[in-house]
Amino acid sequence: MPLVSTKDMFAKAYEGGYAIGAFNVNNMEIIQGITKAASEVNSPLILQVSAGARKYASHTYLMKLVEAALEENDLPIALHLDHGDSFELCKSVIDGGFTSVMIDGSHLPYEENIALTAKVVEYAHSRNPVVTVEAELGRLEGVEDDIVVSAEEASYTKPEQVEDFVKRTGCDSLAIAIGTSHGAYKFKPGQKPQLRFDILEDIEKRLPGFPIVLHGASSVIPEFVQKINQYGGDMPDAIGIPEEMLRQAASMAVCKINIDSDLRLAMTGTIREYFHNNPGHFDPRQYLGPAREAIAAMVKRKIVNVLGSDNKA
Ligand code: G3H
Ligand code: 13P
Ligand code: ZN
Repeated sequence: MPLVSTKDMFAKAYEGGYAIGAFNVNNMEIIQGITKAASEVNSPLILQVSAGARKYASHTYLMKLVEAALEENDLPIALHLDHGDSFELCKSVIDGGFTSVMIDGSHLPYEENIALTAKVVEYAHSRNPVVTVEAELGRLEGVEDDIVVSAEEASYTKPEQVEDFVKRTGCDSLAIAIGTSHGAYKFKPGQKPQLRFDILEDIEKRLPGFPIVLHGASSVIPEFVQKINQYGGDMPDAIGIPEEMLRQAASMAVCKINIDSDLRLAMTGTIREYFHNNPGHFDPRQYLGPAREAIAAMVKRKIVNVLGSDNKA
């Protein structure tokens, strides 16, 4: 099946009270691990590429790897640009075959965010087939590409802005800030993880049927943090979003849940463990193979236990 946009995926996810996992990809093993998991449990999938990933692996390599994944797995897969920061970048990936883009104007003043988002929507929606556009209102704390957003700079989405924003931009989905954040250190040590479900509920009422996106939604799975620390790493008090909160969000208007840090932790924890147990090995297949398996097992667990998108392909 060819790449699809997120349109139908989100309509079904909204109706069905589940969410689609949007997993960040950078190389072959990550793509293979994620698509193997989705295939085993028959789940639709979003593979997303950041500007940094595109710089690292190149557009052409990533396209070809995703094409190979499509050939080997009969699943609805959307290829999405994560945190696009300009019209030019969005246009370039759309022209290069992506089926969905995020234009992230969340750092801009409100009117400028609207103008930039509307320009991307106009271009994306003029394509045949139509490319879907995710926008963002409100600002998450954490690290995106090379930009660090401090707690002071971060801000919750203002529900009273969402109808106007969606109407004037024509965007297809909206990323909101309700307390999630990018990276592995989402909450301070001793702090109880909390999300502003009251804001999500308010937005859901104002935009009935409209798909909402959660960034910064890794759970920072303790098993992998422990492995990293046990085998020579040093990750102090890494705390993520509890799975039951993600399940609650997925049962509400949240149709897309973004995961990158959990993939990084699974891969790094597994490779550290491998080298601890096999210090003399140096064939990359020997340690990248188990890392790919760890990603597949983790993604499969997430699809079934958290996202609820299994058997929805
Ligand atoms: O939100 C950012 C994603 O985790 C992508 O990270 O820009 O380092 O590839 P990256
Ligand atoms: P995490 O850092 O929580 O995995 O978030 C990833 C993300 O939001 C990518 O856009
Ligand atoms: Zn993000």
